[in-house]
Amino acid sequence: MIPFSDPSASYQSHKDEIDQAIRRVLDSGWYVLGREVEKFEEEFASFHGTNFTSVGVANGTDAIALALRCLGLEDGEEVITVSHTAVATVTGIEQAGCKPVFADIDPITRCLCSQSLQSRISDRTKAIIPVHIFGQPCDMNSIMKIARSNDLLVVEDCAQAHAAETGGKKVGTFGDLATFSCYPTKNLGALGDGGVILCPNLEKTERLRQLRQYGWDKNRESIHGGANSRLDELQAAVLRVKLKHLRDGNEKRRKLADLYDDLLAGLPLTRPPRNPNELHSMHLYAIECDERDNLLNHLHERGIGASLHYPLPVHRHQAYEGKIRGADDLPNTEAFYDRNLTLPLFPELKKESVEKIASEIQTWFDRS
Ligand SMILES: Cc1ncc(COP(=O)(O)O)c(C=O)c1O
Repeated sequence: MIPFSDPSASYQSHKDEIDQAIRRVLDSGWYVLGREVEKFEEEFASFHGTNFTSVGVANGTDAIALALRCLGLEDGEEVITVSHTAVATVTGIEQAGCKPVFADIDPITRCLCSQSLQSRISDRTKAIIPVHIFGQPCDMNSIMKIARSNDLLVVEDCAQAHAAETGGKKVGTFGDLATFSCYPTKNLGALGDGGVILCPNLEKTERLRQLRQYGWDKNRESIHGGANSRLDELQAAVLRVKLKHLRDGNEKRRKLADLYDDLLAGLPLTRPPRNPNELHSMHLYAIECDERDNLLNHLHERGIGASLHYPLPVHRHQAYEGKIRGADDLPNTEAFYDRNLTLPLFPELKKESVEKIASEIQTWFDRS
């Protein structure tokens, strides 16, 4: 069996460092929002440049909700995003009391399409959430231009794109705030839930720190309505270790993606876009092909944990069907969901496994 992802392999690769970090926390007697969280926040921020701070939170969904609340969005205000994302993006928007609106994706990058974005702006629109889906950076220059000329705020959803870059600049450093998930399978994954918000100014940092803990100020007076979205010390200590290995892990993912690219070249399928001006974080390697369900079954029968990201776009989930503005005009999103298929990819995946997967795909095409 070749698994789709394997967070335990990541633990095993860095076992000594992680065990030591966990022991340090256990011995410290301080388990939530302490020194490890502070250190992780400093290290994560400086990984993105000198002007940033960051705020650790309980997960990537809360990160989105808290970021929108921090920026002052109010109940019922509209946030434009994509339907081709983890449902969590929309959960976060709703958690903040806002209304999601869907724009289409670009068929090549599979990220928010600027033209479609422009067409969805209304007088209720207050913010945009571009999602760097699968680790592919969005066209941030164009999105920021549209945002600024329409007086809109931007929260980058970087849950799948830790350390991805475009034009030499890391994702998360373009918008007003950026949110990250540290769910175990993510490129920067904890050993439980975790999230972080990247912040370009101190005033917002302070407000986010209040919002994540009951709206408390330093005297434990609630000065805003808040939430309980604290990051615990164990996860922060693990994330400090994982952060040191993030660049290397992404590089391994890209090398495996190169191998997939080489082995699958020439087959009638679409591979992920690779742009020399970008560093894709290769969170997921998604191909597109005809008769996708058939190929998925073939791979499963041969013990290969291929998957779908996602089985449905958000607007076709029961909870959202017919309820979200913009969902009736998403031709590129619809086309992608008929054909998408994700192949196993994680830093510890063996080269031989990639070769085996590619050869099974080749066999399937030869037969059909
Ligand atoms: C694009 C995207 N946004 C947000 C999230 C939410 O993160 P979490 O699961 O940590 O709440 C995820 C995680 O699945 C995601 O992939």
